[in-house]
Amino acid sequence: MKKLLVTIDGPAGSGKTTVSRRLAEKLGYAYVDTGSLYRGVAFEAGQKGIAPDDDAALENLCAHIRLRVVKTDAGTRLYSGDTDISDKIRVPEISMLASAVSARPVVRRALLEVQRQLGAEKSAVFEGRDMGTVVFPDADIKFFLTADLYTRAMRRYRELLQEAGQTLEDVAADMKKRDENDASRDVAPLKPAADAVTIDSTNLSVDEVVAEMMGWVASV
Ligand code: DC
Repeated sequence: MKKLLVTIDGPAGSGKTTVSRRLAEKLGYAYVDTGSLYRGVAFEAGQKGIAPDDDAALENLCAHIRLRVVKTDAGTRLYSGDTDISDKIRVPEISMLASAVSARPVVRRALLEVQRQLGAEKSAVFEGRDMGTVVFPDADIKFFLTADLYTRAMRRYRELLQEAGQTLEDVAADMKKRDENDASRDVAPLKPAADAVTIDSTNLSVDEVVAEMMGWVASV
């Protein structure tokens, strides 16, 4: 069995998380959601009242924060120190704050090494925004997963429904703003790597996307 490093980048709601998890499961690989690390930094910054453009405070925070990705029977959980913060980082405010702190070079620098260490063993599927372009430029196979804004907003809206408060229009507007932030920043902007396989999931089921990816993985 080959040990491969697979990367999946793409905008919010493109299906990265569901597809990455499923692909990792099929391959018997580890799955790493790098967005959760940025969400963890955003959550702790929010708790400590750190403004998302206060680089000195963010640098200090990143030097002291202890984020751990822990595999449990209840799925992969994110711990900050000894506290499981997984359920607190999936709310709309943290999504927007994560997008803001992720544009700061001090934060990206701090998380770069963490991510590379997690990928050292290969046999992993990494999802994020800059996996194929910056973090793992030598990955064995790179995907860029996308879908049109309406489809992505609808998927996220369905996920958020229980938490209420946001209309479909709110979700679409937040998503558009976050994509613009993530794609227009100076460091590691969201974009396909030159050698990435782009898959548009607008009219594809999860199974169809995963089957297409499995085909590419088998060809490496
Ligand atoms: O994938 P996600 O929606 O959980 O990511 C949250 C934010 O983190 C996203 O808006 C941009 C940022 N991010 C990033 O800049 N680089 C990554 N590799 C992953 C996420």
